[in-house]
Amino acid sequence: MNLLHKNATEFLTQFYTETRRINLDKRLSDVYEEIELSGTYKLTLDELTFGACVAWRNSNRCIGRLFWKSLKVVDGRSISTFEEVKMAVFKHLEFATGNGKIKPYITIFPPESPEGMAPLRFWNSQLIRYAAYKKNGQIIGDPAQLDFTDVCISLGWKGKGTAFDVLPVVFQFEDKKPLFFDLPAHLVKEVVIQHPEYESFNDLNLKWNALPVISDMVLEMGGIHFPSAPFNGWYMVTEIGSRNFGDEDRFNQLPKVAEAIGLNISGKDMFWKDRALIELNYAVKTSFDKEGVSIADHHESSDQFMKFIQQEKKLGREVMADWSWIVPPNAGSTMKVFHTSFENKVLSPNFYYNNPVWKKINSESLNKCPFHILSKK
Ligand code: ARG
Repeated sequence: MNLLHKNATEFLTQFYTETRRINLDKRLSDVYEEIELSGTYKLTLDELTFGACVAWRNSNRCIGRLFWKSLKVVDGRSISTFEEVKMAVFKHLEFATGNGKIKPYITIFPPESPEGMAPLRFWNSQLIRYAAYKKNGQIIGDPAQLDFTDVCISLGWKGKGTAFDVLPVVFQFEDKKPLFFDLPAHLVKEVVIQHPEYESFNDLNLKWNALPVISDMVLEMGGIHFPSAPFNGWYMVTEIGSRNFGDEDRFNQLPKVAEAIGLNISGKDMFWKDRALIELNYAVKTSFDKEGVSIADHHESSDQFMKFIQQEKKLGREVMADWSWIVPPNAGSTMKVFHTSFENKVLSPNFYYNNPVWKKINSESLNKCPFHILSKK
């Protein structure tokens, strides 16, 4: 038995055990034969759907896993042209955004070949991110995207230069030159962030997009690797309020928020940070709610995660989790997850980090890109 046989056997056995939807012996012997002949095997749509849902269930860093069964799985394994990639991405954004009622959604592009070649790789870490530009020693936009924005510009993309320019979607087929396309504005739902009580907060002109679609992780199931399988849930408020806006190396808005709500930031007392953080998160939550765009606050997410643990326990499964990621970045001790400890073992199926292709390249070697190397979370 080689590794692929072993992984396939474990996955199909799990599929059978949880669903009883196959004749396990027959399916295994078919799969072994297919591997003998071609070096790989094709998952049925039913198996693929199950595998993607369980990969979410097994994502140790995700607090939103109560809803793992509701993941909408789209089979894009036969996609092979620029136009098809573009249409699949557009369709993903349209259906997952659902005019604000966000659906957990994954589009699965073709798997790696037996030789380890990725037929298609996205270069973006998420399908919707804001560009960053250096101007007079300052950064406009999301500093986390500074290098990637430079790459996009070197490929011929042009941004408007605002703090909220949506980056293009960049991808490559096999080891070919990267291609890119822009996302039409009507497919990128955004929410203007306003505070219900502090009018001066609104002068900060903040907004954020509704759909967090991670596009650079490898989905693995049954020994088959899908290096392009963009997936999304809905946002949890602290991802935007505390991290995207609050982090010093991101939009760094806390001093501005503090001033806008009348706090003194120049004294010894640092509590302006805590107070600004809460009002900023509150503004994000109330603004999304007002627009009818799905978002969870950290308290409800924590409760849902505890419910997920109970639900899994009833089925005889222990939830694996990475405590430092599960506990939200503010109000930690007010939530049950803070007071719970977890085992952090990586189960299969799962999502793994990958090496970003574009970080390795310079403009002379644009058409020779290395393949990914799987790394454990
Ligand atoms: N933290 C990332 C962001 O701010 C999104 C990660 C995935 N989040 C999610 N709720 N599914 O864009």
